[in-house]
Amino acid sequence: MRMAIFDKINLDSIRSTRNPISSAAGMPNAAYTDLELFHFERDSVLSKTWAGLEFTSELPQPGYAIPIDFMGIPLVVVRDHNDEIRVFHNVCSHRGMVVVNQAGPIKKLLRCPYHSWTYDLKGSLKSTPHIGGVGQNKVTGFDCGSHGLKNVSSECWMGIVFINLSGNAMPFAEFIEPLKTRWEAFTGQGQLDQVVVSTHSKMQIEIKANWKLAIENYCEAYHLPWVHPDLNSYSPLEEHVNLHINEYMTGQGTLNYTLSKVAGTTLPKFEFWPEDKMTEGEYISLYPNLMLGVQVDHVFAIILHPQAPDHTVEKLQISYVNETAADPKFEGCRAATMQAWKTVFEEDISAVEGMQRGRHSPGFAGGAFSPVLDPPSHDFHKWVAIAYEKALINGTHDEQSE
Ligand code: FES
Ligand SMILES: [Fe+2]
Repeated sequence: MRMAIFDKINLDSIRSTRNPISSAAGMPNAAYTDLELFHFERDSVLSKTWAGLEFTSELPQPGYAIPIDFMGIPLVVVRDHNDEIRVFHNVCSHRGMVVVNQAGPIKKLLRCPYHSWTYDLKGSLKSTPHIGGVGQNKVTGFDCGSHGLKNVSSECWMGIVFINLSGNAMPFAEFIEPLKTRWEAFTGQGQLDQVVVSTHSKMQIEIKANWKLAIENYCEAYHLPWVHPDLNSYSPLEEHVNLHINEYMTGQGTLNYTLSKVAGTTLPKFEFWPEDKMTEGEYISLYPNLMLGVQVDHVFAIILHPQAPDHTVEKLQISYVNETAADPKFEGCRAATMQAWKTVFEEDISAVEGMQRGRHSPGFAGGAFSPVLDPPSHDFHKWVAIAYEKALINGTHDEQSE
């Protein structure tokens, strides 16, 4: 397998992404177009860290399950009867049937549709009908305790369910701490756990482009004047600053985000937001697959679901500061806020799809970066390249894709 990967990607061209930005190139075309590299990235890039999977709000009640195909791996995310969220490999321990095929409430147990083995919402195997012959639901030598659903490490923050498929990423608290601390300096401690979804909170976009292009695009404000003329009018390019929080969090800060003024919205604001930063906001790509934003009266998150090398689903959720913002009297304000972001993210489609088409050109070999306006995008390329290098050099590809 590794030989095949080496045939498809030139290690030197990956290394060149780590040059100083003025002489760096981006990741090579094959990383955006090749199915084998798509699976290689799943196993060697996204699986090795904490990736976004789903919004907790999609599990509306205790006893609820949603099957999710994550880059070809069947998973199920569950809210158990004690309100705890867990993620499992969605595959029966008997003969490997997918257990949950449809999202919905679960009265008590998950039941495999093939031979009716059942699992509780903690993943424990509870019954194995006829396993010892008709009417014999137990058999000597078979221990239910060692045949539960296989757990996937998962954690929740800001209404997002994160997973670590490899099981050996850094502890989640350590992973999220730099962003949590940074944003709580705006919102106040613990306030990001109070945000609520309401009407005008959800949107989904399909893009015919590789998942990485969405992140690279989100990292920079360079394209604002041409791609987002409206956004540029209330949050102009010249009022943006590059942010590099650490090696897996980069993006943009805006000093002058004034949608509420332009759209006349009066949404409740985060109570502890500093008076001198009322028009500031931040847009952080949390690698590998999350695009996050914070402003004085809402936060948003986009989870990227890579479907194929050239196909990604973006799930957006806007959350408002707390229950007061969900009041019907703010319906119009929520609608205006959603509409503004809908316009922005739909405008980005042609940019990322155009870059995807460009990845089929033999005349393009990773391109170049503006040393002033592209550093956060270059940071992402570097991060991906380092993950590739590690996997290729150390042979850590798990070979799940074969
Ligand atoms: S495969 Fe699930 S019960 Fe047989
Ligand atoms: Fe954009």
